[in-house]
Amino acid sequence: MYDKQKLLEYHGRYLMKNYSPYPIIIAGGQGATLFDGDGNSYLDFLGGIAVNSLGYNNKELIKAINKQSKKILSCSNYFLNEPAILLARELIRGTHFDRAFFCNSGTEAAEAALKIVKKYNNEKKTGATKIISFENSFHGRTMGALSATGQDKYKTPFLPLLDDFVFIPFGDADRLESALKSKETYALITECIQGESGVITPTREYMSKLSALVKKHKKLLIVDEVQTGVGRTGDFFAYSGFGLKPDVIFTAKGLAGGLPIGAALASGELAETLQAGDHGTTFGGNPMSAAAALTVVKTIKGKGFLEDVTAKGDYLKRKLLELKSKFSFIEDVRGRGLIVGLELSKDVAAKDLNKKFLENGLILLAAGNNTLRFVPPLVVSVQEIDAACGIISRVFEKI
Ligand SMILES: Cc1ncc(COP(=O)(O)O)c(C=O)c1O
Repeated sequence: MYDKQKLLEYHGRYLMKNYSPYPIIIAGGQGATLFDGDGNSYLDFLGGIAVNSLGYNNKELIKAINKQSKKILSCSNYFLNEPAILLARELIRGTHFDRAFFCNSGTEAAEAALKIVKKYNNEKKTGATKIISFENSFHGRTMGALSATGQDKYKTPFLPLLDDFVFIPFGDADRLESALKSKETYALITECIQGESGVITPTREYMSKLSALVKKHKKLLIVDEVQTGVGRTGDFFAYSGFGLKPDVIFTAKGLAGGLPIGAALASGELAETLQAGDHGTTFGGNPMSAAAALTVVKTIKGKGFLEDVTAKGDYLKRKLLELKSKFSFIEDVRGRGLIVGLELSKDVAAKDLNKKFLENGLILLAAGNNTLRFVPPLVVSVQEIDAACGIISRVFEKI
C-alpha cells in the first residue's frame, strides 16, 4: 500500500543526500502528463530532463519493451544481439559516421568519446595533449566527463581531476582561434546548445566559424548530443542544424525514451580506433534498452515528426515572446526546437518559481543562469503548450 509519509521517511533514512528532490512521489504518466501517488497531475515540461522523448506510456514503446522483455534483457558483449545491431545501423544510416559504441548514460558516452580521441591522438603521436572545452559546458559526472565540464561548482570537491582540458568562453571566436592554433591542442569538445547552464544558444555564424577553424587547424571535433540529440532541436542530431561535421558525437537521455542508454558515434579512422579490450561496459548495448531505442529512433525519423518538433518549438517560443512583452523581468527567450530557455532578470530568482509552478500543476525547472528550461516530451501538444504558458502567466502575474 502506498504510504507517502513512510516512503519520505525511508528516503530520508536510506538514500544518500546527493539530490534535493521535491517531496512528490511519481506514480505514473501519460503523454506529457505525470501523476503522483496522491492523485495530483502535472504537465511535464522537464520530461525527465529531456529523457522521455515519446512521452509517458507511449503505446509503441511499451509494446517494444514488453515484447523484448519476454525474450531477453541482457546477454553480455561476448555475444551479439539483434536490437543492438539494428540500432547501430539505424543511428549510422544517413549520417557520415561509420560505427557506434553503446553504453548506459550520457557521462559514460562522454568517457567513450574522450577515450576514442585520446587513443587516436596517442597513436598519431601528435605531441599535443590538450582538448579544448567551453566554460559553462556540462558533459557529465564521472571523472573524465567532469574534467571536461566547464563549471567549477561541480568539480571543486573532486580535485584533482584530469589535466587534459583547456577552457575558453563559448561564443568568443578570437579565443577559439588562438586555442585551436595552439600546438598543445588536438581536439575540441562542445555542446551545440549548453542546456544545463541555461540553454545558451550560439549563433549560426559562430558555429560556422567554429567548424571552419577546426578544419583549418586540423583538430578533432567532438559534439556532445546528450541533451540536444535524438530530435530535441528539430534535427535528428543538433550538429547538422548548426552546420557542423564532427568526428565523434555522443548521445544518451532521450535515445531509449526512458530506459538507460548512451552511444558514441565515430567516423573514419576514429571509428576503427577502439579495438578488442580497449573499452567496454557490461550493460552496453543490452537488448532491452536497444529495442526501446530502436522504436524511439524509428518514430523520430518517421514522416513529419521532426518538422512537428520544429513547429511546436517555434510556437512555444512565440508564446514565450508574448509573455516577454507583458512581463518586463523576462530578459530573453532562446533555444531551438523543444529545448527552450526563458531567462529572467536578476531580481526574480528562477529557482524560487519551481515550487510555485508545481503547486499549479506544471513541472518547469530553472537551469543555469536564472533561466527556466523547457525540455518537454517531444510529443507535447500545442494545447499543452498553451496550458503551460497560461500557468506561467498566472504565476508571473503574482510576482
Ligand atoms: C550535455 C550533457 N552531457 C552529458 C550529460 C550527462 O548525462 P548523464 O546524466 O546521463 O550521465 C548531460 C546530463 O545532463 C548533459 O546535459
